Amino acid sequence: MIKIKNLYKHYNGLQVLKDLSLDIEQGETIVILGRSGVGKSVLLKHIIGLTKPDSGSIDIGDVCITDLDGVALLKEVQHMGMLFQGGALFDSMNVAENTAFYLSEHGKGKREKYSKQEIDDLVAHALEMVGLEGTQEKMPSELSGGMRKRAALARLIVYRPEILLYDEPTTGLDPITAMHINELIVKTQQELKATSIVVTHDILSALYVGDRLALCHEGKITQQGDPDTFMKIDDPTIDFLRRTISEDPRSFREH
Ligand SMILES: Nc1ncnc2c1ncn2[C@@H]1O[C@H](COP(=O)(O)OP(=O)(O)OP(=O)(O)O)[C@@H](O)[C@H]1O
Ligand SMILES: [Mg+2]
Repeated sequence: MIKIKNLYKHYNGLQVLKDLSLDIEQGETIVILGRSGVGKSVLLKHIIGLTKPDSGSIDIGDVCITDLDGVALLKEVQHMGMLFQGGALFDSMNVAENTAFYLSEHGKGKREKYSKQEIDDLVAHALEMVGLEGTQEKMPSELSGGMRKRAALARLIVYRPEILLYDEPTTGLDPITAMHINELIVKTQQELKATSIVVTHDILSALYVGDRLALCHEGKITQQGDPDTFMKIDDPTIDFLRRTISEDPRSFREH
């Protein structure tokens, strides 16, 4: 379980997180919705240990990661993986090298390295999972935006993280590719039995992947609930999301 308690963070006089608290259960997929600039990416960076709060704490299981630094922090966060907003790949590496990146970097733990054959097999399996089989030799510049996102997802799932963070995984994609990514998020969740935290603007994507939805507003989580309960909450932002769905041509999908 991830327990985020009373998190505060400011940048240059701008109070971004203001007393943000949120509990995330093991094995669930929670979706964080909220307007641009409310601090969703900042929150994810805190959870994965890239940023320290001004005050407040984050417990992953029974370890408080906000107290840790250096190697001790790295040890706690290495079973997490994040798909960054933009899903960046390393441009000078082909798809196979990109996908193998964390495997080659981290090895199996305890300094044991993967063999070349093991890496090839794991990479092939991860690429197959995201529907990119056979693209090992391609360079990122030869891929479409959607393929690049999927390759970034392969790079993430190849080392089977227990906690997955997705920052806007479907933004900028056409509806069909976005749907494919949503399906992959659900499939990955089921295969890895991971805990997933998904940040998105896309309410349809949120309803497709989320066991629980949370709204981030003015630096804190102001509303949360299972999808049915959440969508019925009387709140101006949720009201807006409801209207978006009724006007979105994809809303014929059943949930
Ligand atoms: N490293 C940083 N230094 C200074 N300001 C920052 C930094 N990171 C984030 N901010 C500020 O914090 C605020 C929240 O940023 P954040 O990226 O979390 O927004 P967001 O909710 O993810 O928005 P979007 O939906 O557009 O991605 C913004 O005003 C941003 O400028
Ligand atoms: Mg963001």
